[in-house]
Amino acid sequence: MAIPLMTPYKMGQFELSHRVVLSGAAPTATCPSRTAVYYSQRATRAGLLIAVATVVSATAQGYPETPGIWTQEQLNKHEGFLYCHMVEPRMAIVDGHRQIPHRLLPFRKAFNGTFIAAGGYDRDEGNKVVAEGYTDLVAYGRLFLANPDLPKRFELGAPLNKYDRSTFYTQDPVVGYTDYPFLDDSTKNNL
Ligand SMILES: Cc1cc2nc3c(=O)[nH]c(=O)nc-3n(C[C@H](O)[C@H](O)[C@H](O)COP(=O)(O)O)c2cc1C
Repeated sequence: MAIPLMTPYKMGQFELSHRVVLSGAAPTATCPSRTAVYYSQRATRAGLLIAVATVVSATAQGYPETPGIWTQEQLNKHEGFLYCHMVEPRMAIVDGHRQIPHRLLPFRKAFNGTFIAAGGYDRDEGNKVVAEGYTDLVAYGRLFLANPDLPKRFELGAPLNKYDRSTFYTQDPVVGYTDYPFLDDSTKNNL
């Protein structure tokens, strides 16, 4: 039987094949030339990828050529709000383990549409919150950044690559973001 994260979900007109969402953490701003490769590495059939750098006010526009959603005109260009994506407040460490605060419930209840939770989730916690109905989908930032085939690894219960924090936001055209191995590569390397 499929784990909760790998079950299909209908979001508006979109039939998603699983619930593992790419949270915005792409090199768009720091190294735009790598963005297409980054997204294509992480694309799955009917999987949801959230793009970075969509800004909510003119003063938030830190980078040129990024889309805005702060005027009616800009909003009308989009389909309306299909989902609400929120990040948990800072995680607490209790007895050496990271605790996800699960503070998003009031927002989940107030929003009449697809809800996406993020912030500190791993495979087990993601499965748990989907099974409980706390959220519809789970977005992964750092784990998806470091594992281009994250949905497949979750499905198989395979080990994950560790993220390298020193390459977050790097402007290097080669190191970080797009050089993390796929499961097949790491399997080959271990043979
Ligand atoms: C390198 C890096 C870049 C990020 N850039 C953005 C961004 O541009 N916009 C945004 O909304 N969130 C950004 N985030 C936050 C992630 O989308 C996500 O919410 C956060 O990492 C928490 O999820 P996680 O615990 O699964 O990593 C970034 C995170 C990382 C690690």
